[in-house]
This record gives sequence, structure tokens and C-alpha cells, in this order.
Amino acid sequence: FSNKPLAGKTVMITAGPTVEAIDPVRFISNHSSGKMGYALAKAARIAGAEVELISGPVNIRAPYEVEVTRVTSAAEMLAAVKEKIETVDVFIGCAAVADYSPVEVSCHKIKKNDEVMSLKLQRNPDILAWVAARQDKPLVVGFAAESQSLEFYARKKLEKKNLDMICANDICCEGLGFNSENNQLLLMKKDGSQILLDIASKEVLAQQIIQEIVNQISDNSHR
Ligand code: PMT
Repeated sequence: FSNKPLAGKTVMITAGPTVEAIDPVRFISNHSSGKMGYALAKAARIAGAEVELISGPVNIRAPYEVEVTRVTSAAEMLAAVKEKIETVDVFIGCAAVADYSPVEVSCHKIKKNDEVMSLKLQRNPDILAWVAARQDKPLVVGFAAESQSLEFYARKKLEKKNLDMICANDICCEGLGFNSENNQLLLMKKDGSQILLDIASKEVLAQQIIQEIVNQISDNSHR
């Protein structure tokens, strides 16, 4: 960015997976590496924003001048978001938040007895929907990780969660999506328009997403 179009703005980004404990040894999680979310944090900082990165467990160093809050579970991620949401102008939900967590976390390692065992799970809070339902809501950008009917499901999420924009990725394409260097994203906006960002590194895509957010902020301020 030649100038600092997000100077004076605070951007909060969730990144990485969440990890939901079953017992002291086992957990439920997913393949998110945090690369996409950390690239967004870097791009937002370069654009001049104050950046709050709320990160699940990943092996990536914090980008320069970015404040990182490290969390483990979805419940902890929501608590960290709630703590700092008041001053946030733009919220980007890039984390792969586990949809369910065990109803009970055993404090001892669960013994294997039966051939088949079942685990009772409960729905986790939806962090993105919680932010978008706030009265004084920031500009809210979500992600959609889909393995089929990308546009259909992404648009449904955009509408149901009341988002300003959703970045949809097809997670079945080899070398794209979870834990890869590259990605391909379809940006779908609330006004029905969409922009296809072709295959590129997550760093390049992050800059394009931040540029689109800058455009939306300046459009809104002219209304
Ligand atoms: O981390 P990488 O390895 O770089 O991979 C990047 C990515 C594939 C994780 C990323 O591009 C991506 O798609 N992130 C969203 C993954 C996801 O969980 O998507 P979803 O379609 O299940 O969720 C929809 C949206 O709701 C997401 O913005 C998600 O952050 C949010 N959500 C979902 C559930 C929940 N309980 N709380 C949420 O905030």
C-alpha cells in the first residue's frame, strides 16, 4: 500500500484452528495452519491499521507490530474477541472454529474398553455471527470453507450471519485451502456482487482482501 488507507482503524482477525479437549491427551481440531489469517494481519498492518490477531494454536511467528492473543478453544476465542471488540472497526473471521466440542472433558485419560465408543458433542458459539449481531457492529468479513456448492453455501452463510462480505474457498482443490501456501477465493458481497481472486499466495490474496475492505470503507463513508 502506497499510503496508509487503514490508519486510525482497528482490525481484529481470528486465525488458525481451535482445539477442543476430550481428555488430557486427545482433542478435536482441524487442519488450519493460520497462514491465511496471519497474512491478513500482516496486510492490514501494512495498510496502517492497529491489528488485533486472535489466534488458535499455530506454528507461525506474529507479524511485525501485530498484537496477538493466543487461545485454544472456541470458548476462549469468543472470550478474547469479546474483551477487545468495543474499539474494532473491521472484523475478519478467518479462524477454522470447531463447530462442536465435547459436552464433558474428562480430567483423566479415557480408558479403552468397548469396541465402539461415542462422544457427546455440543455446538460451539458462533463467533462471527455474535460479532455481526452487535448493535454497533464493525464491518464484518467472514470466510466459508466448502467442499461442494461453493457459491450456494457461502451466500447462505453471508445472509444468515448478516455479513458485509464472505471469502469463499473450495477446500477440495489440491494445493489450496487448508495448510497450503496458495489459495483461491471468491469474494461475495452483501449487495450481490462478487469478485473472483485467482490462485495466488495467501500473502497476495490477503492484500487483495484488505484492498477490497478499504474500498468498502470509503464507499460507506461517501453515503
Ligand atoms: O489456516 P490456513 O491453513 O491458512 O487455511 C485457511 C482456511 C482454509 C482455514 C481459511 O481460508 C478459511 O476458510 N477459514 C474459515 C474456515 C471455516 O471454519 O469456515 P466455515 O465455513 O466452517 O465457517 C464460516 C465462518 O464462520 C468463518 O468465518 C468462521 O471463522 C466462522 N465461525 C464458524 C464457526 C464458529 N463456531 N464460529 C465462527 O466464527
